Amino acid sequence: MDRTAPGQGAGTRSLPELIASMTLEEKVAQLIQLAVPFYEGAAEAGQITGPMESLGISQETVHHSGSVLGMAGAQEVINVQTAHLQANRHGIPLLMMADIVHGFKTIFPVPLAIGCSWDMELAERSAQIAAKEAAVSGVHVTYAPMVDLVRDPRWGRVVESTGEDPYLNALYARAFVRGFQGDDLASDMDRVAACVKHFAAYGAAEAGRDYNTVDLSERQLREFYLPAYKAALDEGCEMVMTAFNTVDGIPATGNVALMRKLLREEWGFDGILISDWGAVKELINHGIAEDESEAALKALKAGVDIEMMTACYVKHLAELVERGEVEEELIDEAVLRILTLKQKLGLFENPFRAADPIKEQEVVFCEEHRAASRELAMRSCVLLKNEGILPLPRESKTALIGPFAQSGDVLGPWSWTGSRDDAVTLAEGMQRLAGDPALLLVAEGCGIESGTAEQLQAAYEAAQAADVIVLALGEHSDMNGEAASRADIRLPQVQLELVRKLKELNKPIVAVLFNGRPLDLHGLFDEADAILEAWYPGSEAGHAVASLLYGEANPSGRLTMSFPYHVGQVPVYYNAFNTGRPQGAPDAQVRYVSQYLDIPNEPLLPFGYGLSYTTFAYGEPVLSAEVLTVEKPILLKVAITNSGAYAGEETVQLYVRDHAGEVVRPVKELKDFRKVWLAPGESAELEFTISEEQLRYYHSDLSYSSDAGAFTVFVGCNSRDHAALSFRLVK
Ligand code: GLC
Repeated sequence: MDRTAPGQGAGTRSLPELIASMTLEEKVAQLIQLAVPFYEGAAEAGQITGPMESLGISQETVHHSGSVLGMAGAQEVINVQTAHLQANRHGIPLLMMADIVHGFKTIFPVPLAIGCSWDMELAERSAQIAAKEAAVSGVHVTYAPMVDLVRDPRWGRVVESTGEDPYLNALYARAFVRGFQGDDLASDMDRVAACVKHFAAYGAAEAGRDYNTVDLSERQLREFYLPAYKAALDEGCEMVMTAFNTVDGIPATGNVALMRKLLREEWGFDGILISDWGAVKELINHGIAEDESEAALKALKAGVDIEMMTACYVKHLAELVERGEVEEELIDEAVLRILTLKQKLGLFENPFRAADPIKEQEVVFCEEHRAASRELAMRSCVLLKNEGILPLPRESKTALIGPFAQSGDVLGPWSWTGSRDDAVTLAEGMQRLAGDPALLLVAEGCGIESGTAEQLQAAYEAAQAADVIVLALGEHSDMNGEAASRADIRLPQVQLELVRKLKELNKPIVAVLFNGRPLDLHGLFDEADAILEAWYPGSEAGHAVASLLYGEANPSGRLTMSFPYHVGQVPVYYNAFNTGRPQGAPDAQVRYVSQYLDIPNEPLLPFGYGLSYTTFAYGEPVLSAEVLTVEKPILLKVAITNSGAYAGEETVQLYVRDHAGEVVRPVKELKDFRKVWLAPGESAELEFTISEEQLRYYHSDLSYSSDAGAFTVFVGCNSRDHAALSFRLVK
C-alpha cells in the first residue's frame, strides 16, 4: 500500500480530487471522532474510547478517522499524528479538538464570571491566551464559546454562559471567537478554530434539569436564544456543536429545520457541524430513531458532519448508501467541510501546526498569562453587599474561615487542562497582602457539604480571637457544569450552620462566595455585613480576591444573571413581559395580579447589579429630541460623578421599552452600556445614540422590524435602579 510521507500525498491534490480518490469507508471514517482513551486502549461500551473491535470497527477504518477529542500535549499530539499519517493511505492528518473554554493551563474565571466584567477586550484577551497555550500544546479546535442564554440557575451549565441578555451574550460571543481564532487561522499559529455551542437553546431546558426538553416558540428562539450563535458565526466561527435537547419536538442533532434550513440555508453556515457527546445515538432515547442506523440517517440528513463519541455513522452509513437510503453526496459534503478546515489550518502542509514541546514550556502558564487572569478575575467579582466593612484595613486581625479558605477548587468546571495545585488560594492571597501574616487566623470551619464539631469549634475560637470574620463559602465545582442541576440552590446546610454559629459573636462578617450559579442567599444575605461574589476566579483566585478585600482594587463587576429571592420564582430574569396584570407596587396589597402570596416577584439582586467602594451620582439624563425617525436617531446625555472616596469604575447601562409592539415586548431590554473610570470627585458626561435599528424585533410573522409608537429609555446603574425618559418613534 502506497504510504505517502506525512502531509505530502493529500496536499498535492485538490480536495474534491482527494475525496474522489477515497473509498466510501475512508470517507465515512473522516466523520469519526476518537477520544484520547482510544489511544490508551481504554474501552467504554458504545463509545469510541477503546479498541474498535468492541464496536466492530476495523483498524483500517481507524487509520482513516478524521479527528480526536480531548488530546493536548505537544509531544503526545506529534506522536499520534505521526503514527496516524504513516497508516493513512492519503496522508490526511487528524484534527485535534478539546474543551478549552476559559483557559488552557492558565485558567481564567468561568464564563459567568467573565460575563460580569462587561469587558469585551479582557474577554477576548482571555480567549487569545487560552488559544496560544492550547495551540502550542497541539490543539487545533476548541469546543467553545458556549453562548447559551440562561434564565434558570438550577441548571448547572449557567456557569459556562455569560448570562440572560441576548445583546450582551452576542458581544461576548464575538469577543471569544476573535480571541480564539484571530484574523487569519492559516498564518497565525497562536490561534485555534472555535466551535460555538450548543445549537440551540440548550439553556432553556425545562425546570433547569440538564438535557431536558426545550419547547419554545420560534419567535422566542429568534428573539432571545439565537442572537449569540449568529454573532459567533458572523465573527467567522469555524464550527457549530449541536445541543442535546429537543427544539420544537425534534432533537437538535436530528433537526432538519434548525440545522439545514436555518443554520445552513438561512444563515449560510457551511462549516463543520459536530454532534455533542453521543447525541447522534441519543436520537434513539429521544424516540425519533428506532436504532443506530436510523439515528445515523437522521443526523446526516440534518447536516451533522462529525459524530462525537458514538459509532452510528461508522457502523451504518456505508450500508445506508449501498441501500440507496442516503445519497453519497451528503457524505462527500461532510468530508469536504472537514478537509476544508484541515486545509485552512495548514495541516496538510504542517500536520503538527503549532505543537512545540520546547516552546510549550515557556508559553504555558507564564507570568504574563497569569497576570491577565488575575486582572480579569478582579473585574469579574461582584460586590453584592457592603455595610461599610470593606475594604479591610491591612492591619485588621482577621479570621478566614470556611471550606474555600485554603481550597484550590477555584478553577470551576471545564478546566481539565488546568491544575488546582497551581491555583492561588484565598489564604495565600490574603497572607501576601495582610499587614502581618500573623494577623490572619485560618480555620476551615466545615467542609462544603459536611463538617465536624471539632472543625466548628476551632473556627469559633479563631473567630473569637479576631476583629473581623471572612467566610469563604460556596459550591464545589462538581456542583456546577454538565449534569449538575440543583433543585435547592442555597448554600449547603452545613455552611449556613457555620454562618449562624459565628453570627453569635456579633463581629463583622464578610462572605466571599465561590460558586457557579446565582444562589438563593437565604441564611447569608441578612447575616453577612458584606458579600463578594467571586464565582470560580481561576488560577489567580486568591490574589484577585485579596486585592479586592484589602482595597488594592475596587470591585466593578455587574451581574449578568439575576439572583433569585427564592428558587420558587425561577426562572426570573429582567427582560420579562409585563403580563395583563402586573403586580405594580409590591406593597400595594392588590390581590388579583401576577404575584406570589409568599415571596416578592422581584429577584433579590437584578441583572446589571453590583456595588463599588465608592458611590456614583447620576445627573438628570437629557434627550436631544422626543421624536425618533428612521433617518434621525436621538441622543441621550447623562452626567455621572464619583461622589465617594475611592476611584472606581461604573458601568452605565441603557435600556429601552417598547410600549406598543405587534407582539408583547419585554419591560426593558439592554441596548448599550459604557464603562467609565472616575477618580473621587471626577465627573464625566456620557452620550448614547438611540436609533430605529435598536428598536427592531421579531413580529408574529417573524419579520424583523420596528413599529412607530411610544417608548421609554432607562439609564442607570442596573436594570432596576435608573432614570426613565419617554420618546416616540415616528415612521
Ligand atoms: C460534553 C458537553 C460539551 C463538550 C463535549 C466534549 O458532553 O456537552 O459542551 O464540548 O461533551 O467534551
